[in-house]
Amino acid sequence: MSRKILVTSALPYANGPLHLGHIIEHVQTDIWVRFQRMRGADCIYVCAEDTHGTPIMIKAQAEGISPEALIARVADEHRADFKGFIIGHDHFHSTHSSENRHYTDLMFERLRAAGHITTRSVRQAYDESAGMFLPDRYVRGGCPKCGAADQYGDSCEACGATYSPADLLDPTSTLSGTKPVWRESEHIFFALGRFETMLREWVASGSLQESVRAKLDEWFAAGLQDWDISRDAPYFGFEIPGFPGKYFYVWFDAPIGYLGSFKALCEKRGLDPDEYLRADSKTELYHFIGKDISYFHTLFWPAVLHGSGMRRPTAVFVHGFLTVDGQKMSKSRGTFVTAARYLELLPPEPLRYYFAAKLGPGVDDIDLALEDFTARVNSDIVGKLVNIASRCAGFIARGGGTLAARLPDPALYAEFTAAAERVATLYDARDYSAAMREIMLLADRANQYVDTHKPWALAKDPTQADNVLAVATQGINLFRVLMVYLAPVLPQIACKAAGFLGTSLSRWDEIATPLLGTPLAPYEPLALRVDPAVVAKLIEPTATKTVVAAKKSEPKMTETPSTIAIDDFAKLDLRIAKVVAASAVEGSEKLLQLTLDLGGETRNVFSGIRGSYTPESVIGRNVVMVANLAPRKMRFGVSEGMVLCAADESGRVYLLGADEGAAPGMRVS
Ligand code: MSP
Ligand code: ZN
Repeated sequence: MSRKILVTSALPYANGPLHLGHIIEHVQTDIWVRFQRMRGADCIYVCAEDTHGTPIMIKAQAEGISPEALIARVADEHRADFKGFIIGHDHFHSTHSSENRHYTDLMFERLRAAGHITTRSVRQAYDESAGMFLPDRYVRGGCPKCGAADQYGDSCEACGATYSPADLLDPTSTLSGTKPVWRESEHIFFALGRFETMLREWVASGSLQESVRAKLDEWFAAGLQDWDISRDAPYFGFEIPGFPGKYFYVWFDAPIGYLGSFKALCEKRGLDPDEYLRADSKTELYHFIGKDISYFHTLFWPAVLHGSGMRRPTAVFVHGFLTVDGQKMSKSRGTFVTAARYLELLPPEPLRYYFAAKLGPGVDDIDLALEDFTARVNSDIVGKLVNIASRCAGFIARGGGTLAARLPDPALYAEFTAAAERVATLYDARDYSAAMREIMLLADRANQYVDTHKPWALAKDPTQADNVLAVATQGINLFRVLMVYLAPVLPQIACKAAGFLGTSLSRWDEIATPLLGTPLAPYEPLALRVDPAVVAKLIEPTATKTVVAAKKSEPKMTETPSTIAIDDFAKLDLRIAKVVAASAVEGSEKLLQLTLDLGGETRNVFSGIRGSYTPESVIGRNVVMVANLAPRKMRFGVSEGMVLCAADESGRVYLLGADEGAAPGMRVS
């Protein structure tokens, strides 16, 4: 019976585009899955959008759309990107789904029944003007250790200290710019510490890479804390059964999303999910993830599974981070390359190959060095691999289009097929870089064979026709072996090559016998060279679609592009508006409610200027407003635009006005 394997990649967050860091993970996974299938395993690959949590809720609010609409749009973009990189998910689902809800509720109930759930009160930063509790990352202030200004609520980028937001000097909410207050609320905890023995035993079973295991030892030594799995409303997620107003923390239901996606697939295919999920399952379960999320996958997740009476992962495979030309991917440096931008410029397989050539089994970071990328893929894919087929194809065509009936050098063919198990072992161990080296050494051997036998010279002598055909037949057969070895990495090229060879390239063992006496289809180029000038464009600054906003109470735009195109600027509809009424907003220290006259049309705008202006002092003034900002639903009503202000360090704001003569409704440009 064949192995039954369930494989996942981490679920991308549904609030932004995929970048090449996401792609390297999916390429690593996809290669492994395709390889296992070629070896005859029944291997299923699922993934989903990770949809819950505060950032998605805030982003949807800022865009004036529902979280569901945001998720649907982003999911469409992600799907197109994955398709572009030939990622063959069997199913791509969403954590905001009935299947995920099913497992989330079920597992929580089981954990609760088994006594693994506790509750206690937690003191947390609360933003009174936004009306919500603030995740640590949404509070900024001075580092309590070194004093560096404007640090996140959980850690300092200047000195590396970690702390709680309550320790920050002069904390402010990034949502409203106001000073948070501290409030108590009941939270629900998962008793992780009860699982230490089980986790130690799981780790000892060889489920983790050495460096990941070492990290776990550190975590064990530090002691396993209870894990807070609840968040207060407003929160976009699943409400916790039996706890009105409390929601599952996104990291509780996200890994369960693997199971939700699998359940949806099972329903489609008539499979039984329990065969894969029950505690004594004979199937295998693997998660591919980046090193930043290993805590969730190697501690919480196996514990939650086990505590719910389900199987644990067979292994968790952790990879390092992708850098571009030695730099962390960053928008301001231009090294943030989205999947969509890459696909606008270049075909997917060169990058799949390059990633394979650089991916080892460890957690080291991987660098996409652009000049090396061009040189490597042109040399290996075009210069070595495809070259074998293209130089032999013509001789077969001229010799009648059919391969010879026997190989002139069966020993060389046997040498190539003898590598099958070695290469397979490397793929299985995710040592793709070693596999690519091994395969390219064979490609060199194949080219040497053709060089030595010089079919182009033999072809000048008509008595040598059989010899020419024999040499070309040998070359084509060596190419076929290499193409089978590379099919997990280069599925489209393999598919084209299969058409040319008139045979399938879908099983590892089909190279056992050479391809002889069969006709070849006309040869068409299997891959083209990559142009270095196009590759350079990957990191050229392009106009981004981010609009720069200048109002303090807006969510902070963390990624301000260094320049914008004139078209981006033209998207702003800036107008002179007259403040015809103003009043303080009940329950907010920060906001004034303004009624603005736009030269006939009136708008209601909530503006965070209360700290600097009284209502009376602004009535009658001309201000500058962004008139085409999508309406935003706030706790107090709908805000239909934004008033522009300058702000100083202390948070004091200064309304922008206009010179004498400017009238309400005039365009500002
Ligand atoms: N939504 C969570 C995962 C939930 S899994 C139950 C998340 N999403 S993410 O979009 O931030 O990251 C998705 C995956 O991409 C993670 O495995 C992460 O490590 C990986 N990467 C993100 N940036 C990366 C690089 N620069 N390089 C390589 N992988 C990177 O975390
Ligand atoms: Zn510091």
